[in-house]
Amino acid sequence: MTPIVTEARAKLNLTLDVLGRREDGYHDLCMVMQSVALCDTVTIEREEGGKGIKVRSDLDFLPSGRNNLAAAAAIRLCDEAWRDSDGLRIRLDKAIPVCAGMGGGSSDAAAVLRALNEAWKLGYPRERLAEIGADVGSDVPYCVLGGTALAEGRGERLTPLPALPWCFVVICKPHFSISTPELFERIDGMKISCHPDTKGMLKALERGDVLGVARRMYNVFEDVLPRNQGSTVAEIKDILLQHGALGACMSGTGPTVFGLYDDIVKAWRACHALRKSYEQTFLTVTV
Ligand code: C5P
Repeated sequence: MTPIVTEARAKLNLTLDVLGRREDGYHDLCMVMQSVALCDTVTIEREEGGKGIKVRSDLDFLPSGRNNLAAAAAIRLCDEAWRDSDGLRIRLDKAIPVCAGMGGGSSDAAAVLRALNEAWKLGYPRERLAEIGADVGSDVPYCVLGGTALAEGRGERLTPLPALPWCFVVICKPHFSISTPELFERIDGMKISCHPDTKGMLKALERGDVLGVARRMYNVFEDVLPRNQGSTVAEIKDILLQHGALGACMSGTGPTVFGLYDDIVKAWRACHALRKSYEQTFLTVTV
């Protein structure tokens, strides 16, 4: 098997609403998702005579076995397609911040599904790959499709949306990480008083109105962050807005914050200002 090299793009939540806890312990969500050019590079090859699946990464703390979503996706696809997973070697060159609310692990998993589907000529349509991905993680189905999309249910019910017109995005990851299950638990114990205007967001996307989109960006998890974390997120949003962002919001369960810009000079200045305190700050574009 010739090595396959592919990209795994980061995702952002333009909106994130939690509608309620389900009987299976998950939550019903309503999210408008957007992919950006910032990406990991995923390389897959087969070691002749090798045993099992192994993942290597430039970040040595990432799991190397099936606890890594990329390996889990490969195993799930091999089971589905009656393929041998022995000897598969996955290399992840990470650019997407880890545990950051940007779907990095899910996107690596989705990239593995897409790449093996193509290399092995399995012929699964994207929708089937997304279903397979749902067994690996709630964000994987969206990452298989990418672009601008509405994600509902656990995150697996997807509706493609009109693409957000091309704009610049500054992404900033604070120094702390947030546990996704813990934040979901925290939101269960609180009353959500403010929700995103998802209908308004969908209409703004239909009109191709970037300012309308930026003004409606909202993530209910921002309101339930512990005080210290909440103030860091608010401070980063302020810096993004002071530098001319059309809107700013936290992505997923955080803590990454992003701002949308229609002007590269403003975006670059924001990026430069934030990098002084946060080295994981990036300037990218919507895709
Ligand atoms: O599906 P995934 O493994 O990515 O989810 C990680 C955790 O996030 C789950 O264990 C659950 O605590 C929480 N979650 C949730 N509702 C969702 C998605 C994730 O409660 N729709």
